[in-house]
Amino acid sequence: MQKRSFITVLMAIMMMAVTPAFAQEDNGFKKFDVKVDFTENGFQWFQDAELLAAGDKKKSNAMTIGWGGIGTLWGRTALTVYVAEKRYTKEFMDKAEYFTVMAFDVEQSKVLNYMGTKSGRDGDKAKALGLHTAYTANGTPYYTEATMVIECKIMYAAPFDPQYFKSDVPKRMYANFPAGIHSMYIGEVVNAWKK
Ligand SMILES: Cc1cc2nc3c(=O)[nH]c(=O)nc-3n(C[C@H](O)[C@H](O)[C@H](O)COP(=O)(O)O)c2cc1C
Repeated sequence: MQKRSFITVLMAIMMMAVTPAFAQEDNGFKKFDVKVDFTENGFQWFQDAELLAAGDKKKSNAMTIGWGGIGTLWGRTALTVYVAEKRYTKEFMDKAEYFTVMAFDVEQSKVLNYMGTKSGRDGDKAKALGLHTAYTANGTPYYTEATMVIECKIMYAAPFDPQYFKSDVPKRMYANFPAGIHSMYIGEVVNAWKK
């Protein structure tokens, strides 16, 4: 191999080795342990609205979520999200191995409003908002403008089965809910970063 092409190949290998694994830190995030340094009120956090993203480097989508759960399952730190049947994001969640849940500053509330009222089927929402998509080492999408990113590996995914609804709360909810029944996605928290 000629000297110049050897150096080019060597530089490309070095770039590949350095870039993806440290992408979060490059974007101003610091890794943290959710069991130690997650200081939000878990009963309120989802109700305040967060962002859920899934997909890959070719195509991804995100939507606002107001329902979710934080806890433990099967000996793992877990995070559960609920996605209605008609959401475009569901198509990405059903193909995904991982998803991210992101928090945004209150000054960024237009992000959560837009992501929660427009569908990615009608256009690239991240692009419309000027958000920058980046990827974890697992290839999971997140936005560099988020203040916190929690990456989860999906352990369980299934739609609710109405025959098991035990109270009027879900029955009333779905009696008039055009977006369809929700699926639950229980994810093992595998990484978390905050600014
Ligand atoms: C505050 C807020 C919370 C929401 N929470 C959820 C939720 O937990 N699950 C869900 O399926 N949809 C929820 N939505 C609705 C979706 O975010 C919304 O339908 C979105 O446009 C779907 O986008 P998509 O079609 O690109 O997936 C919420 C919307 C808002 C504004």
